[in-house]
Amino acid sequence: MTSGTAPLVLADLPVSDMVLQALQGRVRLVPWDTATTADAKQVRAIYTYGHPMVDAGLLDRLPAVCVISNFGVGVDHIDVRAADARGIPVGNTPGILDGATADLAFALLLAAGRRIVEGDRYARGPGFLRYDPSFIIGREIHGTTVGIIGMGRIGEQVARRARGFDMRVLYCNRRRKLAAEASLPCRHVTQAELLAASDYVVLTVPLTADTHRLIGRAELAQMKPTAILVNAARGAIVDTEALTEALATRRIFAAALDVTDPEPLPRDYLLLRLDNVIITPHLGSASEQTRQRMTELSVENLLAGLEGRPLTCRVVPPPTPA
Ligand code: 8YV
Repeated sequence: MTSGTAPLVLADLPVSDMVLQALQGRVRLVPWDTATTADAKQVRAIYTYGHPMVDAGLLDRLPAVCVISNFGVGVDHIDVRAADARGIPVGNTPGILDGATADLAFALLLAAGRRIVEGDRYARGPGFLRYDPSFIIGREIHGTTVGIIGMGRIGEQVARRARGFDMRVLYCNRRRKLAAEASLPCRHVTQAELLAASDYVVLTVPLTADTHRLIGRAELAQMKPTAILVNAARGAIVDTEALTEALATRRIFAAALDVTDPEPLPRDYLLLRLDNVIITPHLGSASEQTRQRMTELSVENLLAGLEGRPLTCRVVPPPTPA
């Protein structure tokens, strides 16, 4: 892996074997805390694999950085404006993980509705000695209404799966998606309408200042008591304390979370002990095929930046606020 002249790349190790293989002999990965050592000035690139913060302070300590490559599409952990102000392009991996992430979101929806994880635990446990038709009664999936908050690429893929299950699809999004409305079909509504009418509320919106804690106490109170919340986006879109309270008091039926805030949750946190929540450890894009494509694209972006070529997928910096 190490080569004397290979450019230093700051990475939040451990990266996967797939990534290590793709970068073999081309760069030298150095750990995140190199940013606080004398080697900081030699670092030419940043490869973000998990979600450590890449902000102006970090970039100021790494004056030779010429590219930031993110393994993933969401860049809420990167100050893209600060990078742009320093002439540093930021690469990400859009368009190649939508199907996998929507599959996982839908798997969570199905599992929470039909209480599959609870059923699995029970079927393995000492209590299952005789079939009882009254146990582990879940919620119907087909014929119900799903509300998708954030009708981007992943949201549309969730909607397509929902239509396959004969669900009615509502969505809210900054812009109406007329093509999706015609082809799926689905209906654009306000967030309040969506929360009040949906049996399943699925979050597929990026984390920004506008979506931070989008679902708090007031929004959970607008949901049906039989509703299920699915978060396949970012943990901080939901107020964790408010959700924990809503689940503990059975204000809503259940939640299924691929992401949490913080991530991971403290091991003694109450949410982890509730039986009406399913939590997966940020597995949205974690299929072999998708991770292979993400590896290829993120490595391609990294090497392009190091060689001064345009990135295959470059994040457009948000406009500077007036
Ligand atoms: C990745 C993700 O697993 O693309 C994203 O925004 O959250 C996931 O697909 C994550 O970035 C881990 O590297």
